[in-house]
Amino acid sequence: MPVIKEIDYGTPLRVADTLVSLEIDGQAITVPAGTSVMRAAVEAGVQVPKLCATDNMEAFGSCRLCLVEVEGRRGTPASCTTLAEPGMKVRTQSPKLAKLRRGVMELYISDHPLDCLTCAANGDCELQDMAGVVGLREVRYGYDGANHLKAEKDESNPYFTFDPAKCIVCSRCVRACEEVQGTFALTIEGRGFESKVAAGNHNFLDSECVSCGACVQACPTATLIEKSVIEKGQAEHSVITTCAYCGVGCAFKAEMQGSEVVRMVPYKDGKANHGHSCVKGRFAWGYTTHKDRITKPMIREKITDPWREVSWEEAIGRAASEFKRIQAKYGQDSIGGITSSRCTNEESYLVQKLIRAGFGNNNTDTCARVCHSPTGYGLNATFGTSAGTQNFDSVEQADVIMVIGANPTDAHPVFASQMKRRLREGARLIVIDPRQIDLVKMPHVEAQYHLALRPGTNVAVINAISHVIVTEGLVDETFVKERCEEPAFEAWRKFIAEERNSPEALAPITGVPAADIRAAARLYATGGNGAIYYGLGVTEHSQGSTMVMGMANLAMATGNLGRPGVGVNPLRGQNNVQGSCDMGAFPHEFTGYRHVSNEAVRKSFEQDWGVTLRGDPGLRIPNMLDAAVEGTFKGLYVQGEDIAQSDPNTKHVTAGLAAMECVVIQDLFLNETAMYAHVFLPGSTFLEKDGTFTNAERRISPVRKAIAPVAGMADWEITVALSNALGYPMHYNHASEIMDEIARLTPTFAGVSFARLDELGSIQWPCNEKAPEGTPVMHIGGFARGKGRFMITEFVPTDERTTGRFPLVLTTGRILTQYNVGAQTRRTANNVWHHEDVLEIHPFDAENRGIQQGDLVAIASRAGETTLRAEVTERIQPGVVYTTFHHPVTGANVVTTEFTDWATGCPEYKVTAVEVRLAKRLSEWQEHYLETRRQTTKIEPKIEQGTGAAK
Ligand code: SF4
Ligand code: SF4
Ligand code: SF4
Ligand code: FES
Repeated sequence: MPVIKEIDYGTPLRVADTLVSLEIDGQAITVPAGTSVMRAAVEAGVQVPKLCATDNMEAFGSCRLCLVEVEGRRGTPASCTTLAEPGMKVRTQSPKLAKLRRGVMELYISDHPLDCLTCAANGDCELQDMAGVVGLREVRYGYDGANHLKAEKDESNPYFTFDPAKCIVCSRCVRACEEVQGTFALTIEGRGFESKVAAGNHNFLDSECVSCGACVQACPTATLIEKSVIEKGQAEHSVITTCAYCGVGCAFKAEMQGSEVVRMVPYKDGKANHGHSCVKGRFAWGYTTHKDRITKPMIREKITDPWREVSWEEAIGRAASEFKRIQAKYGQDSIGGITSSRCTNEESYLVQKLIRAGFGNNNTDTCARVCHSPTGYGLNATFGTSAGTQNFDSVEQADVIMVIGANPTDAHPVFASQMKRRLREGARLIVIDPRQIDLVKMPHVEAQYHLALRPGTNVAVINAISHVIVTEGLVDETFVKERCEEPAFEAWRKFIAEERNSPEALAPITGVPAADIRAAARLYATGGNGAIYYGLGVTEHSQGSTMVMGMANLAMATGNLGRPGVGVNPLRGQNNVQGSCDMGAFPHEFTGYRHVSNEAVRKSFEQDWGVTLRGDPGLRIPNMLDAAVEGTFKGLYVQGEDIAQSDPNTKHVTAGLAAMECVVIQDLFLNETAMYAHVFLPGSTFLEKDGTFTNAERRISPVRKAIAPVAGMADWEITVALSNALGYPMHYNHASEIMDEIARLTPTFAGVSFARLDELGSIQWPCNEKAPEGTPVMHIGGFARGKGRFMITEFVPTDERTTGRFPLVLTTGRILTQYNVGAQTRRTANNVWHHEDVLEIHPFDAENRGIQQGDLVAIASRAGETTLRAEVTERIQPGVVYTTFHHPVTGANVVTTEFTDWATGCPEYKVTAVEVRLAKRLSEWQEHYLETRRQTTKIEPKIEQGTGAAK
């Protein structure tokens, strides 16, 4: 299909109970009160010329191109800043208006280079379009007066250029940065003729700019334009698809020339992003064509042998025969498989089907095990559904926003922009995090309370907050009475009211002043709609599931559930964490979170799949690795996951992998786990296949093939081939048939199909007869489980204690420009912002150890030791150190321990007792890693490109 162009209504949509009817060029139109004349005109099918207005930001009224005449009024008001009024009669065309508009255009063009034919924006330039629309034929002022045509270009940003010679100072970029992105990196400097766009006193790269691309998209000229467009030219067709990075799930137009992507443009009709994006989805797609992509299947006998390229048939045949041999020799349970939250729903579904039906066991797991499994457990226990309660747009009605253990501006940037807008409108913010994340204080946003707790004390803090609610009479008694199980509530009320759960009693443990806890609790309970958003800083703890239940208790006690503006909302890390859990990738559950021991459910799958299925849960990832070290688990199929980098206690993981007889990796690159593999099956990127992702708001969004798989097969086709070779036949002609099967077998997906997705754009599950268009907000009028259940959340400190030997606590997180273990983003120009992981350490701790900014430091725990550079900063509190895990050679997971969440086995990445000291050389593990990488891949490792670490 040709490049899709969304309608630009000029000014934002208004929602109002009162409607206004008016006439535009003789056409009657009715719009909500507060709508501009410009927007009303577009809705009536009338285009008014415009330059400074666009519909994702408030009208500015500077270009004077959109002038109209209103019957009975003097002058020619700007239609973008004039509100529609009842009975108004508007004329958008007249000789007078045409003359005025031509005059405006003449002024613009007299200070604009006349290089349209060779300009990269030729054909996609609003200035050019408007010159045509107003019928500009001459420029009476000539081109020789004072102008800006020699202004210097700023090419510092790796993805877009800024050419001030082409700027018409419409301020759309400045307003996009403020209103859409919320970064405030740009200003208009100077006045009149001297006025110009500036990124502070810097070039774009060194400024506050976070490269979200909103200004580039807003620019009506070629002043701000993607370098890829300059290089390749304009696209000729586009495909709507979904970002493959984080759990926000932004919709994009992949704008293409043939089979080449020219640019990725956020899609305005995307329900999760409304046309906004972040640097990753917008620009960091270069990995899809990176030279490191493996495009041929490969096999080898031993992991020390060089890889040998073979046909698909031979590679699949080898994997199947090895798995069969291993099962014959070591038993049915000696093999298993892992799918990934980066894969589509259809792919994850097929992997678990292959394992349950083809391998004949339930040894299936997903990387969601190591991030959000406590979410599933905790929300299911309390509400009856293993998923977040709201849609993202719900935040627009929140009055008090509580962010716990999440860093949305880095990890969920597009949702963070939506949240920041609501905060600028006046919602109040409580941040619970050991670190001073950006949201705590940034332009026009400041947290009312930042509870900088000690890592590992989440449950103590949430209990203390609930204690205040209960003991100060702030419980929403009506909600609790109507909506929750009474005995469980009464037991919880009694437990939480105990003095040992008071802020005062817990302050020595949490490090948070009791007065702050009390004030934050009162604000959350009484400040209007209270919404909780949380991330891996909640789940990746030994009490991750307890904390999820603690937040659910708090929301129920205050009645903050079952309507827009409230809720308990997990911010999922990877694009399809929600989906991989929904798809039955865990060993104990079929799709839709139904236990394998449930006979009726199992029977429905047995009938559909034509096999007998096991009713006992299989092995989780850590159990598979333990069994491998013990010698009973010998074969593993891994689709899209890099456990050697992302899972804790790297030495144990690699020992398990090295002990197996057949490891089959299906991925884009020779990742860290592939160092231990015998068969490599080249996977496909999100641009190369059809399927769906499900984001953090349960939104199932389409992933659509823009180019053919570079290795010849989409991932789901590889799983089908492997299954067939194993003797369990699978037949699908298209990914849509897999979704049809999922819908057939999963009550919450009953109404989902590719056709329905094409029709609605995206669907939030549950989608079935009761909710044919999906469910944006859950638990309205009643919980999925009937009545909400309060759970007792006793605070139990982690066994990982600081000692004299390991006196500091290491906690981990992400940054904006890199994604997870970095396999994709490290292969893009995003490396200009973050080419290595660093260790944040407070000046007090640094000074005590003689450490200065940029020093190489060793960080050691009971599990292992690694080295990295020190970043001395007050962002982190004394006693705590922090790092990211995007580069493999950092080996952050060499340091993390084997402690896990008591209920789900989710690793405790966020709390590791460590010591930090100055180092002279890389750690032993790092030297060994580099040598092994050299030997097993025959590729010279590059330290600056790193390899991997924590989750
Ligand atoms: S790319 Fe985004 S953050 Fe940077 S200046 Fe433009 S709008 Fe602002
Ligand atoms: S850079 Fe583009 S959007 Fe910004 S003021 Fe200039 S023309 Fe307008
Ligand atoms: S916010 Fe997430 S989904 Fe959206 S563009 Fe960025 S990485 Fe992609
Ligand atoms: S579009 Fe209305 S003044 Fe510019």
